Amino acid sequence: MTLARVDVELAAVAEADKPVLANVLQLYQYDFSEIRELDLTPHGTFTYRYLDPYFTEPGREAYFITVDRTLGGFALLRGDVDDDGSWNVAEFFVVRRHRRRGVGRRAARLLFARHPGEWTLSFDRNNAPAESLWRSVVAEAATGAITETERPPPIAGTRLRFTVSAS
Ligand SMILES: CC(C)(COP(=O)(O)OP(=O)(O)OC[C@H]1O[C@@H](n2cnc3c(N)ncnc32)[C@H](O)[C@@H]1OP(=O)(O)O)[C@@H](O)C(=O)NCCC(=O)NCCS
Repeated sequence: MTLARVDVELAAVAEADKPVLANVLQLYQYDFSEIRELDLTPHGTFTYRYLDPYFTEPGREAYFITVDRTLGGFALLRGDVDDDGSWNVAEFFVVRRHRRRGVGRRAARLLFARHPGEWTLSFDRNNAPAESLWRSVVAEAATGAITETERPPPIAGTRLRFTVSAS
């Protein structure tokens, strides 16, 4: 595998491309099926109940992550979680072919740059790659204190709150 530097960009998901996002969400949920014990439906798919609000509710944003102009993942952002102007990384995914090449790190920095100010995000306790990514990229991007709170079971994890300044 070559680890040559790749070109990472964000592209807002148009409503017409919602089915494309739904397809990639299946891959994301397949990865998460190990972390959260998700089961397949009898149709052989995973159910994701939260897609439509990204196209109907204000304060939601959906992006494809492109890698050398091909589809390489996605990010879903919510501005309505804490109701205080902060943005939340609700879902974040890089396809396996492009992992460990800095794609997640660069995509996260591009997201933060879109909305300087307060951010929150969470990762599950048993999702080591996500914990490592977010601790590392937040330490790089944040100015000031990073507040950490624990999320209790059934989905035990950690929530980070931090500030990103305009560059
Ligand atoms: C988590 C995820 C987004 C990381 O994407 P990625 O493009 O591979 O991440 P990067 O290559 O930018 O890695 C940045 C840093 O994250 C950490 N990291 C990423 N993957 C890791 C892994 N498998 N094990 C340990 N650390 C890891 C490392 O610190 C890495 O820096 P380094 O490569 O210099 O050591 C990807 O594995 C993924 O999509 N996983 C499934 C979905 C998911 O868990 N999403 C997060 C939800 S909170």
